[in-house]
Amino acid sequence: MPIYLDNAATSHPKPSAVLDAVARAMTDYNANPGRSGHRAALEAARAVLQTREQLAALMNAPDPLGIVHCFNCTDALNLAIKGSLRAGDHVIATQLEHNSVLRPLAGLAARGRIELTLLPPRPDGFIDPEDVRAALTGRTSLIVCTHASNVTGAIQPVAAIGQVARQAGVRFLVDGAQALGALPVDVQALGCDLYAFPGHKSLLGPQGTGGLFIAPGVDLIPQREGGTGSSSDSLLQPEELPERYESGTLNLPGIAGLGAGCAHVKKRLSQIMMHERELCRALYEGLAAMPGATLYSPAGEADRAGIVSFNVADLTSAQAADALARRDIAVRGGLHCAPGAHRFLGTLRRGAVRASVGHANTFEEIDAFLSAVREIAG
Ligand code: ALA
Repeated sequence: MPIYLDNAATSHPKPSAVLDAVARAMTDYNANPGRSGHRAALEAARAVLQTREQLAALMNAPDPLGIVHCFNCTDALNLAIKGSLRAGDHVIATQLEHNSVLRPLAGLAARGRIELTLLPPRPDGFIDPEDVRAALTGRTSLIVCTHASNVTGAIQPVAAIGQVARQAGVRFLVDGAQALGALPVDVQALGCDLYAFPGHKSLLGPQGTGGLFIAPGVDLIPQREGGTGSSSDSLLQPEELPERYESGTLNLPGIAGLGAGCAHVKKRLSQIMMHERELCRALYEGLAAMPGATLYSPAGEADRAGIVSFNVADLTSAQAADALARRDIAVRGGLHCAPGAHRFLGTLRRGAVRASVGHANTFEEIDAFLSAVREIAG
């Protein structure tokens, strides 16, 4: 593997406990969870429940059954968004959102189903909760905000936005793609109704995993209906959570691995956070001292989640990312599936180079990365 600074896309390396858990699920109890009653099937169901419990504990969810396993964060966001909205609803989201939020919302708006307001951030890159309040209308039924921008890493004031949502009695969905496992997350303190997350980023699980926290009393229109292994005589989707939203065979090996990733992260969260923050500081300061480098991430180290985005010299982000790849350094250039964030930064044509750190990166790797950037900047 290269020097891996693309952890915001997917984390690497995975802890050995994750690899072991995946292998065990595919050998020791390779059965369909929640269907049959034999030993292996029961063990599979237990693994799925244990991961739910790990996730609930990590995010302080009041009930593990309110954590629904999804196939990735996009899947969770589609369920949260399409499951919440009805014709004529008004939605407030932000220009910083990933396409996993923007496209479902823009698609509904283009079909005339909803009215959509996309709030710009303040010049400092953060959403102002008072702008959210000012955008509320009598028809607003959903507010969506990213917990941390996947382009700049800027951690958004989601607790304050949650307060605005609660005061207005409007449902609040947080996109935790770059946050859960990287920052302390307490869904009750955030006041959110829905919190979507991937399993394969900071939770260190396999790809094909993710989930949605659904607060007690929040009902969604199921987006995937079918077999659940329960109430099989009924033609209608069960009312009970989590089956209501989990039709079809689950990704057992992925979910077992995610449970191990969660346990790994939970034990070490403050240590991982401190390490990633220090790596990011070295990255940010090294780039800031470089003539010809433009930085797009917040300067305050407590304000960013493991991400530093930049451009160098007059290179496009694709040219810079390719030059780094040729030196065996993995970063992501381009638009990061978040066009609004790049429009805000003025980088819609050029894109930006995103370096994103993870639990296993070292300061030597950051030094090697900075030397390579210096070299390509000429
Ligand atoms: N959403 C992921 C990223 O930002 C894939 O790179």
